[in-house]
Amino acid sequence: MGNKNLCKAQKVKNDEFYTQLTDIEKELKHYSDHFKNKIVFCNCNDPEESNFWKYFELNFVKLGIKKLISTHYEKDKPSYKLEISGDINNDGVIDKLDIIKTPLKQNGDFRSEECIEILNQCDIVVTNPPFSLMKEYIPLMVNSGKKFLIIAPLNSITYQNIFPYIKNNKIWIGYTTPKIFTQPDKTTKAFGNIIWVTNIDIKKRHEKIILYKKYNELDYPKYDNYDAIEVSQTKNIPIDYDGHMGVPISFLCKHNPNQFEIIRFRIGNDNKDLKYGSTYPFQRIIIKHKQS
Ligand SMILES: C[S@@+](CC[C@H](N)C(=O)[O-])C[C@H]1O[C@@H](n2cnc3c(N)ncnc32)[C@H](O)[C@@H]1O
Repeated sequence: MGNKNLCKAQKVKNDEFYTQLTDIEKELKHYSDHFKNKIVFCNCNDPEESNFWKYFELNFVKLGIKKLISTHYEKDKPSYKLEISGDINNDGVIDKLDIIKTPLKQNGDFRSEECIEILNQCDIVVTNPPFSLMKEYIPLMVNSGKKFLIIAPLNSITYQNIFPYIKNNKIWIGYTTPKIFTQPDKTTKAFGNIIWVTNIDIKKRHEKIILYKKYNELDYPKYDNYDAIEVSQTKNIPIDYDGHMGVPISFLCKHNPNQFEIIRFRIGNDNKDLKYGSTYPFQRIIIKHKQS
């Protein structure tokens, strides 16, 4: 059900799905040390509706944020940005009365000159960008050199122009998997396989996957078109196999770069999907144990 909604959203380019405050809180609690004295930019939000804005406004003092900026996107007309730089009316709280609203000359597209200028000034970007624009959004973030934490479909990290960032440890997967999103008419929609993607160093990425299985030929068939064994579940990765191993894409949610090296995605030596016998396992990632 959830996955069907994701495919539909990507096909019809429906990007209006809003993140629930509880899902933002569940993930952001792991990053609370990273915001002190930082300029936070939400570049794909309707700041007057967005729970990202709400979260940072509510936690502005607790996190020690220096400045919060959010641009609003309008398809066909100039838009605006909102900023909070502190308790400007000196009433002891950060709230709506501390917001400065400024018109933009352009429409608030995250690729527009004005938004890129704000991106260059900020320290951390946190948002849920349009799923239909991930191929452009993630490279823009990586190349900006800024820290970021964003929501994305798990599938998007397998895109040809994005997977190399995962493979080379430039980006990785966060902690939680938001499932329910709110639509403009306030109804909710369930999505499967939604993750957080970040380049902020988190504890989880240094935790090793606990493994206990040992290799045997029967349980771990070799692919016909690549010299690697098939491992159908991450927990079954054999502790004692030194060669290449094909694991499901969900392995990346647990990946620790000190434990495993990522070799390639999905394709055998013949440039076709990995297979053994008549079996084509779905979207495998080839990994190997890192030599210690
Ligand atoms: C998936 S929604 C998420 C909204 C919000 N970040 C949240 O999680 O509640 C993506 C948002 O990006 C906006 N958007 C669409 N195209 C955009 C673009 N080119 N530049 C900036 N924002 C865009 C949409 O209007 C939409 O509000």
